Amino acid sequence: MFTINENFCKLPESYLFSEVARRINAFKEANPNVDVIRMGIGDVTLPLCPAAIEAMHKAVDDEGNPATFHGYGPEQGYPFLREAIALHDYKKRGIAMDPSEIFVSDGAKSDTGNFGDILSISNRVAVTDPVYPVYVDTNVMAGRAGDLVKGAWDKIQYLPVTSENGFIPSVPEGMDIPDVIYLCYPNNPTGTTLTRDQLKVWVDFALKHGSLILFDSAYEAFIRQDDVPHSIYEIEGARKCAVEFRSFSKTAGFTGIRCGYTVVPKELTAKDSNGCDVNLNHLWNRRQCTKFNGASYISQRGAAAVYTPEGQRQIKEAVDYYLTNAGILREGLTDAGLEVFGGVNAPYVWIKTPAGISSWEFFDLLLEKCNVAGTPGSGFGPAGEGYFRLTAFNTLENTMEAVKRIRSARF
Ligand code: MLT
Repeated sequence: MFTINENFCKLPESYLFSEVARRINAFKEANPNVDVIRMGIGDVTLPLCPAAIEAMHKAVDDEGNPATFHGYGPEQGYPFLREAIALHDYKKRGIAMDPSEIFVSDGAKSDTGNFGDILSISNRVAVTDPVYPVYVDTNVMAGRAGDLVKGAWDKIQYLPVTSENGFIPSVPEGMDIPDVIYLCYPNNPTGTTLTRDQLKVWVDFALKHGSLILFDSAYEAFIRQDDVPHSIYEIEGARKCAVEFRSFSKTAGFTGIRCGYTVVPKELTAKDSNGCDVNLNHLWNRRQCTKFNGASYISQRGAAAVYTPEGQRQIKEAVDYYLTNAGILREGLTDAGLEVFGGVNAPYVWIKTPAGISSWEFFDLLLEKCNVAGTPGSGFGPAGEGYFRLTAFNTLENTMEAVKRIRSARF
């Protein structure tokens, strides 16, 4: 009889955002006339920018014409997009990046989850805590996380980021050296950032100990402060120790279209069990060629259009709109007496729950009293308990309305 990968059975019943959606839907069913403002999952609300729409319309027409039809594309992505990424996201920021180091995909969620395929099961994994749940859950699936003991996986190394340490993770000391470290900056869920100097500490640590940093910069487009790095490759030596994940989801509203990319520099090597160097770029390429047939031609044409001057202007306008919302949340909720973090270089604000209320209790309270839905901090990890996340991705009107409702609830 066949058997299953029992690691999957260790996972909590549902993925965090599915559970949040389930609870909101149950509330809506019980209260059909109530207008719930959804600030839970970080999904965009503005339509796609005209430059991307126009490019995708044209790409659809290409597919209807024998002379311009595209079937299977390159698994790594079309050269027109890889070259545009190398130029605009890297060269223009003073970072040399060859298009062959860029792997286009259907998004950063898949890539951060899939990257573990090419890493040994024996790697010791560290995550900041709270953390985007995909990093942890996919390591549970792979068998790297151990068992869930009192809300924490016993083989995962948690690096707390809370108001006590200013949301700056400390590098582990002594014998606790992780092999693989997930960092996401600007951070999901806390909306906080690391400066160049603070990120350098991690790059130096990884270089010293032979660790690999998996750097998720899906929220890079929201950076507005000069000392916050847009890419880990701004830090010297990062090409030898870091993989970077990017996404068009939040940058250009592609949550429904799907397009992202992963950078695996050629210098990145690991030792196999015989002590021989293995190149990660080759390994990831081999994995992608076998398991992935590339993002669609249409979405890649849409993504490439984001790099045109009009595309750049249009997506900046959208990101600025969300950042305005983030500012309204920050200020409004601070005025309401809550302690609020993040939201300056990120579309998330991270709120300390009032008077020791647990994250899920606050979720229920906010939903029932204010009809505002967010995400409980404890869903992102043990150190998220006592915190709550709201996204700035709703409309300006709904954001203002949510603040008004929360203020009048007087927590
Ligand atoms: C979030 O709400 O954390 C994100 O939308 C999830 C994602 O990007 O997959």
